[in-house]
Amino acid sequence: MDEQQFIPKKYSNIPDTGKYTWSSPSNIALVKYWGKKKDQIPENPSISFTLESCKTITSLSFSKIKSNSSFSFDIFLDDEKKDDFKPKIETFFKRIESYLPFLKDYHFVIKTSNTFPHSSGIASSASGMSALAMCLMSIEKQIIPTLTHEYFNQKASFLARLGSGSACRSVEGDLIVWGHHANIEGSSNLFGIKYPYEVHENFKNYQDTILLVDKGEKQVSSTVGHNLMHNHPFAAERFIQAHNNLNNLIQILKNGDINAFNQIVESEALSLHAMMMTSLPYFILMKPNTLEIINKIWEFRNKSGLPVSFTLDAGANVHVLYPEKDALSILEFIKNELVAYCQNGHYICDKIGFGSKQL
Ligand code: DP6
Repeated sequence: MDEQQFIPKKYSNIPDTGKYTWSSPSNIALVKYWGKKKDQIPENPSISFTLESCKTITSLSFSKIKSNSSFSFDIFLDDEKKDDFKPKIETFFKRIESYLPFLKDYHFVIKTSNTFPHSSGIASSASGMSALAMCLMSIEKQIIPTLTHEYFNQKASFLARLGSGSACRSVEGDLIVWGHHANIEGSSNLFGIKYPYEVHENFKNYQDTILLVDKGEKQVSSTVGHNLMHNHPFAAERFIQAHNNLNNLIQILKNGDINAFNQIVESEALSLHAMMMTSLPYFILMKPNTLEIINKIWEFRNKSGLPVSFTLDAGANVHVLYPEKDALSILEFIKNELVAYCQNGHYICDKIGFGSKQL
């Protein structure tokens, strides 16, 4: 399987105008993607839960123009023109141009909004790039109506990856693997796939409460972050660790061992931050309240025996993960003991979800 399969044959006819709208969810990695090679190829495989409530909704209107030498588009966030988003979209379009040869034949109006606040510290690049890729695939599907559902999603994930690596895990739900792993059939560096093996009841409807510890702008952009893994003293070991953790998860997801699951997920989160702390330049993205929350979670877990755990993104916010059957008691604990550490008491209740939807 290679990139060539995503280059379409010459189009015979393209529509004059049209509009598509898609919503795509955010996702939270259990085994983290941190480090990439040229062309958005990950250094190690990752696996994530697709979320349900944290979403980006994007509509893409297109009207034919005389073919241009450059891309023609405007972008709006919540109906406000956002010229500062243009360079990122321009880069995305450049990367995907050979796979969607109609791009320079249109003027596009991209209107996007998030269900979560823009400055919440929740990255919108995964859900945003995924929603845009879905809209673009809808245009291709209109041009080539015989495209299968499977090809549509696979190419959407492939394109989304070229916008932002983790975005390729936001096309579908509910558990997605991206990156080649020897023991996961069909896994690819080029796109995300639905996790193909048995998943125990314990992980159905898994809950993720996102504690917004710091809503400020990201201290380190993910591109800068990934680059820190080049020449990193522990990079090679880290990539092996990710392969091993994903390998061990296969058995854990099957037998429903939540304690073993928690150990891997927390170790992954701390390893991700350890990589940032030991790179040059180095960063500490956790805040004092991140650590307060982690310690409270461990204390509560020891005392109550309830299987709550945490994971982190490249920031200070904490994702609290727990099974649906314990949701009542754990949510009570979160409200009583953790919300005090959130900026303005803000948190978002989310759970594992089923992927992008056309609206
Ligand atoms: C820490 O997908 O945002 O969230 O490919 O440069 O756009 P780019 O990076 P991005 O990196 C996400 C890193 C992470 C871990 C993860 O989601 O796997």
